[in-house]
Amino acid sequence: MRQRPESAFGRLMHAFGPLTKDPKLGDVPFNTSVTLEKLPTRGILNASTDANVIHKLDPETLRVTDRYDFSYFSPELDKSMCLSHGTLDDVTGEYFNCMANYSPVKTEYTVFRIDSSGKANVLAKVKDFTYYMHSLALTKSYVIMAMGPAQIDLFPLLRGKSFTEACEMRPNTPTRFVVINRQSGGIVAEYEHEQFFNFHTFNAFEQDGDIMIDRSLFSDCKILQELWIDNMTQGGNVARVKPVRFTLPNIADVGARYSTSMPKASFRVLADVALEFATVSPRKRERPYHYVFGVSDNDGKQFSSSIAKVNVDTGIVTSYVLPQRTFGEPIFVPDPSGNEEDAGCLVVLALDDLKDSSALLVLDARAMTEVARAELPMRLPPSFHGAFHT
Ligand SMILES: [Fe+2]
Repeated sequence: MRQRPESAFGRLMHAFGPLTKDPKLGDVPFNTSVTLEKLPTRGILNASTDANVIHKLDPETLRVTDRYDFSYFSPELDKSMCLSHGTLDDVTGEYFNCMANYSPVKTEYTVFRIDSSGKANVLAKVKDFTYYMHSLALTKSYVIMAMGPAQIDLFPLLRGKSFTEACEMRPNTPTRFVVINRQSGGIVAEYEHEQFFNFHTFNAFEQDGDIMIDRSLFSDCKILQELWIDNMTQGGNVARVKPVRFTLPNIADVGARYSTSMPKASFRVLADVALEFATVSPRKRERPYHYVFGVSDNDGKQFSSSIAKVNVDTGIVTSYVLPQRTFGEPIFVPDPSGNEEDAGCLVVLALDDLKDSSALLVLDARAMTEVARAELPMRLPPSFHGAFHT
């Protein structure tokens, strides 16, 4: 059990601080296994979270073999906080992320790239209020931040409140898209949009001079508290997340007149379905595509009770449902010999709601039918994210 520090500074650092001491690794920060990332020169399994702390895992035994942070790549990358999700370009091997030291006044965000050889460089620095961000968007030419207005008020943390209690939508503040050149660095353009909140970007690409960014969207950050166990087990409201596409129009033209105005981004709902922990075929990242797969709610019955496949062009939804099961994030594994976008399988963890057991399911991603199941002799609750490697 963590001891609550007495001093205000201690409580603030406690919010991001260590939980236990490992005899080999020293202080081991809590909650570092939200995401599993492949990092240049550092192997395929690196567990990370919002803090600038990474645990390198042995892919065979899953044991922690190293603990480090992004300053391993460059002394400039020494900030305390980092987005949970960096973005890896599977083709070039480049990795992109953003980090910051939170400040009660203005926070400076550092967007960086690590190339396939492990060489890191800063692409842009942006100052703004302290906002919660979970993931970036990456296209062939740009890396894009969606900043605010879910603001983290540091003073509640000083009073011992939780991170989720300290997050509120800043009034009268739109969300700001910051478009950065992913090769040369520098801010190319900015757009604004009405307030929203989200965790995950499931694809982004350029098309006809516009930038498309596809995300799972909430209207505000109340979801952070709606996901508390007390709320969910007592039947409290949990906002329905929807898949949307933002369009940042005419990037070349906007870049040319960047300093004089901030144009508007538009958006549309891709389908009338709840969709989170969404994924596309790895072959379609940063490219126009047709299908996205994710966890859904079986037509509003209960979140995580179905796996949905959404055709983003038509809005048609195909679902897989297994009664009395709670699903984790589906992971798309392409068919090595398949040419169609949806040729492949979804690997999904399914918790039995009534028994002390789980199962690992393999679904045909084209037909959305089950093709294999491995029953597990224990309860294995679905976590946030996973990874598939051969
Ligand atoms: Fe996440």
